[in-house]
Amino acid sequence: MKRRHFIKNASLTGIGLVASSAAMGCKDPSEEKIEKTVMKQTKTPSPIAICTWRFTEANATAGKALKAGKAALDAAIAGVEVEEENLKNTTVGKGGAPDREGNVTLDACVMNSDGNCGSVVYVATITKVAALARTVMEETPHVMLAGAGAEEFAYSQGFQKETLLTEASKEAWHAWLKTSEYKPIINIENHDTIGMLTLDHNGDIAGACSSSGLSYKMKGRVGDSPIIGSGLFVDNEIGGAVATGMGEEIIKTVGSFLIVELMRNGLSPQAACEEAVRRIVSKNEAYTDFQVAYIAMNKAGETGAYCIHEGFTMMKYQNDHNEAIAVDFYHKK
Ligand code: GLY
Repeated sequence: MKRRHFIKNASLTGIGLVASSAAMGCKDPSEEKIEKTVMKQTKTPSPIAICTWRFTEANATAGKALKAGKAALDAAIAGVEVEEENLKNTTVGKGGAPDREGNVTLDACVMNSDGNCGSVVYVATITKVAALARTVMEETPHVMLAGAGAEEFAYSQGFQKETLLTEASKEAWHAWLKTSEYKPIINIENHDTIGMLTLDHNGDIAGACSSSGLSYKMKGRVGDSPIIGSGLFVDNEIGGAVATGMGEEIIKTVGSFLIVELMRNGLSPQAACEEAVRRIVSKNEAYTDFQVAYIAMNKAGETGAYCIHEGFTMMKYQNDHNEAIAVDFYHKK
């Protein structure tokens, strides 16, 4: 493994942290020392928001908040909330599809540029779960709260109790009950988890991730979206990554953490996302039946995205321009 494969980003400066080459999978640990990359911005890029899927308004909301001078996490949560409140979105927030017993349960997490994070899982009565995850981060000694405990904490912090199952979601669930066939659809209605990464005026990166999880999942099932390192990971020295798609596969490979670590070792965001997808498809022949997609951004504002199947889109907002980017994919038929 050659050093140039690790340090290839001209806009980033490498500062020598010496690591054992054995740890990097090289032949002789005594023979070769590898410099890991600690990324320092030579110039702060103008603010950027990226998010999963064609969540145009959510991404524009985050981008405009960044432009107005908001901090990275404020902007990410403002963006994600657009979809949490969008009743037509059946995979995020209020209006999300329920589990097979008719309960809508939401998962979310946030991660800050100082490495702090918060998470909530299995929340059945609160819409703005990314904001709730932030409140867990800021107001409790814990990282993760689940179920009734998360809900009670939310009420104590002023969050409103809400019914998350809408008439439309209830009707769809009743229709599903007629067959009760559980087979998640690739690119279901072309949207799934919203994962967002933001880079603010100070060059700081934060992220948020929010989902109602897989439609008609088993009662109690929790996906990747609230799991720090799986659905989301940010290291403000390096960059961040978020995931969408089949949560079980993302958790097995700790996908978002993997991508940030690959970027730390010099891979571009694009190459890191591709490697994370390769880890999944190389271990699971059934990849033809599920979608996983990653997006990533490094400290220099470079972005990347990759997925298993055609049909995934990444939104990117920078310099007043909100762009939908069709993402390259692994499974070319
Ligand atoms: N990626 C969302 C989930 O699997 O729950």
